[in-house]
Amino acid sequence: MEYYSDSPKALDLHKLVVESMMKQKPVLIRCGARSQGGMGLNSTTQTIDGFLMYLEEQGFPDAYCQLQGQEPKPISIKQLREQFQKTSGSRDYIANGLGFPFMNDQNLLANISLPGFLEKHDLLRRVAAMCSDFNKIRAGLKVAPELGFIVVSMAGSTTIIHQDNWPTILGNSQGLKAFFLMEKSDNNRECRVSWESSHGLEMFQGKAVVDLQVGDILVMDEERDHGVYTPEDSLLIGTHFVLAEMLARVLRTSMFHKNNPDYANDPSPRVREYFQNFIEVLNFSYIANYKLTKTYINQDSRPSEAWGFWDYLEACYDLRKEWGMTVKKIKEAKAHLESLFGLDLAELSQSNR
Ligand SMILES: [Fe+2]
Repeated sequence: MEYYSDSPKALDLHKLVVESMMKQKPVLIRCGARSQGGMGLNSTTQTIDGFLMYLEEQGFPDAYCQLQGQEPKPISIKQLREQFQKTSGSRDYIANGLGFPFMNDQNLLANISLPGFLEKHDLLRRVAAMCSDFNKIRAGLKVAPELGFIVVSMAGSTTIIHQDNWPTILGNSQGLKAFFLMEKSDNNRECRVSWESSHGLEMFQGKAVVDLQVGDILVMDEERDHGVYTPEDSLLIGTHFVLAEMLARVLRTSMFHKNNPDYANDPSPRVREYFQNFIEVLNFSYIANYKLTKTYINQDSRPSEAWGFWDYLEACYDLRKEWGMTVKKIKEAKAHLESLFGLDLAELSQSNR
């Protein structure tokens, strides 16, 4: 689905994203962010050189890069920046610097403008905000910082065909990206699992190519097979999110991935691990205490959100056995939640009665 940011549909971005995620259709919003620098607000988040200069100044460790035709390897920020400063024909390699996290960097975070509805409706952010101690969330819900990421890519780089386990919002700050989005089907899943770059894209059915220009926003549903080609050096800002309406589906997906760890060739297993932890914790919290749901729903909530939580509770019950949730485990999970979020679940339940 493709809309311009001033179209009636796109004006209520939250509603549009809910709709598209429920229908499992990616959505592209042309000019959804600023035409200069996309979701980036200053040179650090708008340009590759500004970004790498910032990382260099901060003493950021080597970046894990995919290299065209070579094995992936860590490259120092200084060297990566020098290579980016050369013209594309005279570089030593074509690199894709994947997933620099920005959630734990106040300066980067302050200079990125994510779509506003995420702040209120994204459950991943709510969980992160509920946790008073950042170190605890890192220890418990392992990779909260990787919810938000920045990717810098050299012209000519490609990714393998892969899927991310979780819904993602992407905005291009500099350059140009081409996304190959594949229809969800058994054929495509089989092609993807055995895919190598020499196979090309022929075997995939129902492909769409989407160009992502500076200022455009692409919202991709979870488990969408895709590959990315970079025609011009690019800086891309992305964030994962989960809305109430898709919680039940995400839980089921998470369960499936837990049982089939090789199914998604997600480039970042740590992200997957985080979400599994997250879903598990939320899952336990609802099972342990229905009343908690009330803390997420108030008069401003959309009816679809309330429905989403209800659907989720049902899914929790369906999956309770599979998660192996004995009373002992539920009690452990409650204790884990309480220490993680610094709150007393029993008290919270009382105050919501
Ligand atoms: Fe991806």
